[in-house]
Amino acid sequence: MKGKIAPSMMCVDAFKLEDTLKTFKEEKIDYLHIDVMDGTFVPNFMLGTDYCKMLKKKTDLPLDIHLMINNPEYKAEWFPIGEGDMVSIHVESTVHLQRALSLVKRLGAKPIVALNPATPIEEIRYVLDDVCAVLLMTVNPGYAGQALIPQTLKKISDTRKFLDINGYEHIEIEVDGNVSFENAKLMKSAGSNIYVAGSSSVFRKDLSLEDGIRLLRKVI
Ligand code: DX5
Ligand code: ZN
Repeated sequence: MKGKIAPSMMCVDAFKLEDTLKTFKEEKIDYLHIDVMDGTFVPNFMLGTDYCKMLKKKTDLPLDIHLMINNPEYKAEWFPIGEGDMVSIHVESTVHLQRALSLVKRLGAKPIVALNPATPIEEIRYVLDDVCAVLLMTVNPGYAGQALIPQTLKKISDTRKFLDINGYEHIEIEVDGNVSFENAKLMKSAGSNIYVAGSSSVFRKDLSLEDGIRLLRKVI
């Protein structure tokens, strides 16, 4: 599957947003990954509906909205989403997972089911018909700059196998958390193809955005 890059917008220097979007467009990045945090599902607040609306006005790059919020089954529609955008719903965030995923589809976007590191992949068996991708957290969600949880590499390969043997070869695997150049290589061999790029790659302080994107592209 084609390797895709989704830079994490929570890592962007807000004073340089316009230039950053220009670079992302020039470098043909695939999605803008937007971490929405409600202070309850995860121990942090981050980004939101107005931020997404503002981005929609500034760029035509598709959004990859990662909802780390409780009860997304009625909040997804507050976001400006449509064709080409993706929205992730966490298994752990709702008892109405299928309802939330079908709402995303009804709004015209691509539904993704997301799992925290400790959540077994068995949990998603009966929603595989409702999703385009599986997002595997490779750190506990809430913050940038954390270390990879090593057993999540095995989880990527287990998920790829689980999808393939059940006839879902077309479902993509997105990875989020400490996607460094080194870890991206291992994640790719394990079977992922969409990479959330944060402080470990594209936003590394010692590299330009362009170099970060190019180096990541080389290993995926
Ligand atoms: C949370 C975020 C972070 C982060 C990823 O869902 O998406 O995981 O920005 O980048 P790193 O871990 O490289 O800072
Ligand atoms: Zn994320």
